[in-house]
Amino acid sequence: MEEVLNDGNRRNFLLKLTTVVGGAGVAATCVPFVASMNPSTDVLAKAVTEVDLSGIPPGGMHTVAWQGQPVFVLHRTPEEIAASTATNGVIDPEPDAKRVIKPEWLVVVGVCTHMGCVPNKEGPGWICHCHGSQYDDSGRVIRGPAPKNLAVPPYHFSSENKLVIGKA
Ligand code: FES
Repeated sequence: MEEVLNDGNRRNFLLKLTTVVGGAGVAATCVPFVASMNPSTDVLAKAVTEVDLSGIPPGGMHTVAWQGQPVFVLHRTPEEIAASTATNGVIDPEPDAKRVIKPEWLVVVGVCTHMGCVPNKEGPGWICHCHGSQYDDSGRVIRGPAPKNLAVPPYHFSSENKLVIGKA
């Protein structure tokens, strides 16, 4: 009888020891695994993209990278701004005034909303040569198959000539 109790105690001890050691092993494995899922410092750095606007003349456009995507920064002329106030023929109607902070600067993600190609700046607006979608100088789709306007990323102007993409 005494021997049976000793075996039982030993079994319980070994069970607890195995549970503790196993739990520690799982924790030791999970901590670096979970830590590896955090964004690296270079990814965090690219969460925000700063753009010097002083080198973009009226009518000019710069394409910058933000979070792995192209972003078009278009310095619109008064004529381009005037043409963008109309919403005739726009497939996804949205007033131009809601898409810009300053009328002379349009900031849009340069990824076609159909299947993700990068549209080309051609004439007024952009044309996506993958399937023929067309966007106006407000980044609004005026010919499909793209269903939606080019997305406006969060951005703000930190000074007269500095644009910060990634934070509203
Ligand atoms: Fe642009 Fe299809 S991906 S039209």
